[in-house]
This record gives sequence, C-alpha cells and structure tokens, in this order.
Amino acid sequence: MSGRTFYITTPIYYVNDVPHIGHAYTTVACDTVSRYKRLCGYDVFFLTGTDEHGQKIEQAAQKRGITPKALADEVVQRYQGLWNVLNISNTDFIRTTDEKHKAAVRKIFRTMRDKGDIYVDHYEGWYCTPCETYLTETQLLDGNCCPSCGRETSKLKEPSYFFKMSKYGDTLLKHIEENKDFIRPESRRNEIISFIKEGLRDLSVSRVSFKWGIPVPEDEEHVIYVWLDALTNYIAALGYGVDDDSNFKKYWPADFHVVGKDILRFHTVYWPTMLLSAGIELPKSVFAHGWWTVEGQKMSKSMGNAIDPNWLVEKFGVDAIRYFLLREVPFGLDGDFSFKGLIHRINGDLANDLGNLLNRTMGMVNRYFDGIVPAYTEKGAYDEALETLVSRVFDEVDGHLNNLAFNKALASLWELVSGLNKYIDDNAPWALAKDEAKKDALGSVLYTVLDGIRLVSLLLYPFIPDTAVKIRKQLNTGLDIEKADEKSLKAIRKLESGQKLGEAEQLFPRIDEKEMLESLKPAEKPAEKKEEVVEAIDFAYFSKMVLKAAKVVDAEKVEKSDKLLKLKIDLGGGEVRQVVSGIAKSYSADDMKGKTVAVVANLKPAKLMGIVSEAMILAATVGDKHVVVELPDNIEAGTVIK
Ligand code: MSP
Repeated sequence: MSGRTFYITTPIYYVNDVPHIGHAYTTVACDTVSRYKRLCGYDVFFLTGTDEHGQKIEQAAQKRGITPKALADEVVQRYQGLWNVLNISNTDFIRTTDEKHKAAVRKIFRTMRDKGDIYVDHYEGWYCTPCETYLTETQLLDGNCCPSCGRETSKLKEPSYFFKMSKYGDTLLKHIEENKDFIRPESRRNEIISFIKEGLRDLSVSRVSFKWGIPVPEDEEHVIYVWLDALTNYIAALGYGVDDDSNFKKYWPADFHVVGKDILRFHTVYWPTMLLSAGIELPKSVFAHGWWTVEGQKMSKSMGNAIDPNWLVEKFGVDAIRYFLLREVPFGLDGDFSFKGLIHRINGDLANDLGNLLNRTMGMVNRYFDGIVPAYTEKGAYDEALETLVSRVFDEVDGHLNNLAFNKALASLWELVSGLNKYIDDNAPWALAKDEAKKDALGSVLYTVLDGIRLVSLLLYPFIPDTAVKIRKQLNTGLDIEKADEKSLKAIRKLESGQKLGEAEQLFPRIDEKEMLESLKPAEKPAEKKEEVVEAIDFAYFSKMVLKAAKVVDAEKVEKSDKLLKLKIDLGGGEVRQVVSGIAKSYSADDMKGKTVAVVANLKPAKLMGIVSEAMILAATVGDKHVVVELPDNIEAGTVIK
C-alpha cells in the first residue's frame, strides 16, 4: 500500500421512490472506479446512501398512514438489497436520519451562521395548499396552477433563514475557471459558468411549512432545507461534526462526486459555496452523467416503465447488466435502454468475443496438454506485438477510468480480447499440434493466451467482478486479484504453470433473441411493483359524499388550457352549476353536451385557472386519457347515486 487515498460518492437516493436503472447506473459506475482504484493499491472510501428528509417524503408517508421514518426504514432496504444484488462494494451507507449525519448538518449550519453568512428574512413562493408544496415560477402550469393537481396556487410568504450564497459567486467562478476538472464533462462546466455569471442569489435554507427534517439549531420552528441537509452527507459520513473525524482528515476532499445531470447545479453551486462559507476544502471533481430512457421513452412512475434492476439481474445476470450499463453509452451523455441492445451486447461482446476466447483456449489446453497449464519456453513471432498491446491497453484503461470514460475503457479492453483471439489464429495451435517437435512452441503459445486471459480478468474485475473471479477459477490461479498497483498490474507471464485448469464453464450462454423478446412481452417488462396502500373507510365516512346524476347543458373549452373544459350541469330541481373538468384531452365541448354524468355534488368549490368549479365529474383515468362515468339518458338529473 502506498498510502494513497481515493474518495468517491454517489448521490444519496430519495426514499419516496423505488430504485430503478438510473440509480443502479451511478452506483455501478462508482463501484467500478472504486474496485479499479483498490486494484491499483489505493485506500478507497466509496460512499452511497439515502436522502430521507423533506416534504415529499413526509407526504408519501402520510398517504400510507405511517411515519416518515418507518417509510424510510422500509425503502432503504430496497436500496441496500439492490446494492447487494449488484455486487456494490461501498465502504459506508449513510442515511440522513443517522445521528452522525444530523450532527454534521448542525455543525455546518452553525459554522456558516457564526461566519455571518446566515440571516433571517422571508421566503416567498407559489404555494399549493392541497399538495402543501412550494413551487417555483417555472414549475407552474397554465398561469399559476400546480403541476401535480392542476389547482390554483397562491403566493405565500414564510419566515426563512437565508444563506449569503451571492457573496461567494466570484470566488467560485475563479475556482471553476482555474480547475478544469472541477466540473465535468466540459459542456456541463460551461452551463454552470454561465449560470454563475448571471449572478448568484441568496439561498433560502430553512422551512417552517413542514416538520420532517433537521431542526435549525437554536430555532426549532424551522427545519433545515433538504439540499443543505443532503449535501452535507458527503462529509458527515467521514465524521465531520463528531469526535472521531480521522476519516474526514484522511479522505476529504472527495476525488469524485458522481451525479446525474439534473442535480449538477446543487453540487457545483450550492455545495461549494456552503463549503467556502464553512472554510472546508472543495471536492476535486463533480462529474455529471446523462439520463437513461427505456425503449426510447422517459422513465417515470406514471408510465410504469421504470425497470426494476432486481428483475433484470434475475433475467440476464448481474454482470450482463453491469457491462451493458457501462459499455453502451459515454458516461456524460444520455442513453437508451433497450432489450435488443442488451441482448446484442451479451451475445456479441460477452458470449462471442470473451466467452469464446476462454472456451477455445481451455479446450486446446485440455486436448493437447491434458488440462495442465504449459510452460512458456519459446518466444514466438507474434509475442512482442501482443506485449505491446497489453501495455497499451492497460495504460489506456487507466487513463479512461480516471476520466470516468467507462465505455472507452471497455472498448480498449476488448481490443485485448480481440488481440488474443487474433494471436491464436496467427499462431494456429492446431497446426503446431500436428508436429511433436513443435510441442514447446505450442505450449508457449497456449501459455501466452492463458496469461493474457489472466490479464483480461484483472481489468474485467472492476466492471464485472463475478465473471473475473469465474475466469480465474478456470485458470486455477492462486494469485490474489486485489493486490497490485498500476505498474505491477500489467506485468506479464505471472500465471503459474503446471497446475490443472479448473472446470470449464460457459461464462455467458448465448441468448436466442427472438425467444427472449417474446418472453418479455408487456406483462413482464415493467417489473416495478406499484404498491398502493388503500385506506379502508367506513360507511359513515362514505355517506358524507353526495354523488348525483347531472345533465351537461353547456360546455366550452377553457382558453389557454389544453386540459380544461368549463361545463354547465343541471342537478335537477332547477339547480345549474358550473364545473371545470380536466377532460379536454379526451372530450371536446360538443362531445360532452347532452351527456348524463355522475358527479360529486358536495365538494367544496375550488378555482381552476381562476374559474370556480362547483362539483366534480367522475371519470376513469388511464394515463392522461379520461373516460367519464356516463349514465343512461332516462336517469333524471339530480338522482342520487349510492
Ligand atoms: N436526493 C437527491 C440527491 C441528493 S445528493 C446530495 C436526488 N435523489 S434521486 O433519487 O432523485 O436521484 C438520484 C440520482 O439518480 C440522480 O443523480 C439522478 O440523476 C439519477 N437518476 C434518476 N433518474 C435517472 C435516469 N433515468 N437515468 C440516469 N440517472 C437518473 O436527486
């Protein structure tokens, strides 16, 4: 060990979601770099965890009728379980509900406040009362309507602590300009530079509108803003804010914060200015990766297409998934997950190129040397070229992995796989085997290939560790996979001779594409299990709701909205009411006129886009399509529905 340290982090994942391949992607990427750095002798700290505070989590828990902590305790297991399944070698798993995390958040808040960088003012924003959420101007729909429930929001003010972020704009800009690697990739760096140049505003860092969070020290009415809370995890895990901060001294600053492109600004503006205020060194690099779509579509809960990685692993194997995620797209760009693409990678790269190399070599050693690893005794005509290739590939993989260019690293490594296949073809061991006098040459060729496979297994290990270990079992080598450094890693002819090869096992059986695609037909694909807990209500509660038949007497489209219709409904007994309904994507005004529909007649009036709605038309909702509940024409307006 050289005493070199390496610290890498994933974002901490929200517990109001279930893990999908987007989350798996970041974590597998960080795992790969961590494993590689360990292989090179670094003392690695690899951190992941969960982000458990905030209003959304409070609301999600409320809906389920459980406490936010109980919700977090449940969801956290899904993340930890998945990391197990995906062979993630994290050093620590931090939860923002951990005591040591809370201590760190309190400490950084106090330090920033003592510095004079925190002051009290008012936070003003658009507030949706039913959803209990503040929204930014850009999130609002159709004027000032809430994007999730469609209702009108109102401008509200609440007292809030503010962080003087604006004070650090120039220092941050200078840091970014002087440290080319601070934000990667380059295109993202430019985005952030422009953002800072527009001028930073002070940041509201506390809320009084909900409770689920870390209270502001010495003012418990406020909870600390979730991003200030969450970002602090990166130093909290190292012991910042508790007595034993030896890991903080040892590993900080982080070598890499790896994040998705959507949360780059939090990591390259909020976080570094917080650190500047608290007098803590900045991380060395923040890398933003792209987003995955699934079969060309955005992944989302409502689409039900967020693939469960556990299911994928069950179906295709952990290493096929790890390999695909890292090979398919450049790390900074968006990518598409398709089953066809996955099957092609498995059949082409893994089964054909890699699998065949091992199979054919093992087959020949079994055939010509009774499965005993021969010795290297004779230099052959193609050896030097192969040695040069090995050295180049190791250097390239090192360079690429230090830049998180996983796909390029794998492409380089596959040059070695192809180089070894070519080496076999050039030397034609089957021809050498025909001549007893060429036994030494034959042995040397096969030894060189086996040793080459050992070298491949070393570089495969960070990406697909199970496969690397399987290969080494088949080589029956006693060499330890994790003890090396960049230089000795590429040393050739280290494989022992004279031992019997292990049992031959196919690494990646070929997949019949047609059959597999057939077996993945819709029912199975969206494997995310939607767990909706429905609260049971008693009859008394139900009977408070007045449902009635109503005749639509008039209807028109609401201007400037593609979702809303304004209708006049007859509720019998001469009562006509106005209703605003979000069905315009499925029904025109004319479609609705004359229909007899079911409505909730005793709903408190609400305003939608400034128009009062005095009842609600019932409809079945499928995605963004609606089918209203219609009654036969002979049902009179005002008839009660029970
Ligand atoms: N809790 C915050 C992060 C706080 S870090 C101090 C958060 N959590 S998240 O669960 O919503 O997202 C975690 C990560 O998953 C983000 O980096 C995000 O970019 C990533 N992804 C979410 N969906 C994704 C895809 N479809 N594709 C790739 N990554 C995606 O944000």
